[in-house]
Amino acid sequence: MPSLRSGLLVVSALGFAAVAVAHGAPHSKAEEAIDYRHSVYHVIAWNVHRMGAQVEGKAPFDKDAFAVQAARVAMLAPMLPEGFPEGSYVKGKTDAKPEIWQNRAEFDELMKKLAARSATLADVAKSGDLAKIKPAFGDLTQACKNCHDKFKAD
Ligand code: HEC
Repeated sequence: MPSLRSGLLVVSALGFAAVAVAHGAPHSKAEEAIDYRHSVYHVIAWNVHRMGAQVEGKAPFDKDAFAVQAARVAMLAPMLPEGFPEGSYVKGKTDAKPEIWQNRAEFDELMKKLAARSATLADVAKSGDLAKIKPAFGDLTQACKNCHDKFKAD
């Protein structure tokens, strides 16, 4: 029964399209990279915001939760650079400035600082000592800002 077979093919093709649309299917390798880096940033920001609230006294300090949040950021930070492959500037889809790919060495250096500072914070967080954690957290957020000021459009 060829009609049933082609009918099934149409249904499965539509099903795939629906899933792809529901997940906001990227249209190109560049957009796939943009989705990837946005995703990593969102998870990092989720954790950084929670740590920030504790450091600023807006939320109770929970040393175990803080240590987990810091460890997550330390794990995620080194995943960022691969989210910026050559050619992944797409006007209107990204806040990344094209200068990244003209100053790649500087950008990578700022990424390395982020990774190093997030590793330091994760280490210090194990102590549960807020007096030590505060400056290490400040160093981390400064690393975010240093790069955003230069390479992220607002
Ligand atoms: C070495 C550079 C660099 C560092 C370090 C950096 N960022 Fe970013 N960040 C960017 C760039 C570039 C973008 C824009 C990405 C895009 O839109 O494609 C961005 C985007 C973001 C976004 C928005 C994502 C979106 O969906 O639009 C968040 C949130 C974010 N960064 C948080 C952070 C936090 C928190 C830190 C520090 C813990 C940090 N970033 C460190 C360069 C950096």
